[in-house]
Amino acid sequence: METTLILFKPDALHRGLAGRILSRFEEKGLQIVGLKLLTMSQEMAAQHYAEHVGKPFYDGLVGFMTSSPIIALALRGPGAIHVARSLMGKTFGNEAEPGTIRGDFGNSRSYNLIHGSDSAESATRELGIFFPEGLQEWTPITAPWLWDAE
Ligand code: RTP
Ligand code: MG
Repeated sequence: METTLILFKPDALHRGLAGRILSRFEEKGLQIVGLKLLTMSQEMAAQHYAEHVGKPFYDGLVGFMTSSPIIALALRGPGAIHVARSLMGKTFGNEAEPGTIRGDFGNSRSYNLIHGSDSAESATRELGIFFPEGLQEWTPITAPWLWDAE
């Protein structure tokens, strides 16, 4: 069982796509264990994107991510990190496959709607930035079917 950190970026909210994007994850069977609307501070953005400091797109990315509210989402399920990244598609909308979130909803190389943790280590680190208070522990009544449990 894994938990991953997903962010709906400002473009997802401005474009009114938050509900439809959330539906993709719910329909897949990932469990919501954290959900909040917030505006990222400069400090949070610097922590979250520490691996990208010094890259040419860093300043623009941080400026964009702190410009208006985002939704932070914690999703749980077997292989949740990889499963969520698969649903998202490749980084840029103009390269992402149709059927993926980025492939269906965008064609931009700058505004790509969504972030998802890329490894177990990243997920733990990023969940700590956005959900320092911890996550909601609950068991879906459909858990045996969602999780192949006995
Ligand atoms: P994310 O972290 O947002 O889930 O996306 P990712 O793993 O697919 O992409 P990553 O390489 O981690 O880059 C983080 C975000 O930086 C922006 N970016 N712009 N212009 C560029 O060359 C460029 N490269 C990356 C994107 O917003 C990307 O999601
Ligand atoms: Mg990344």
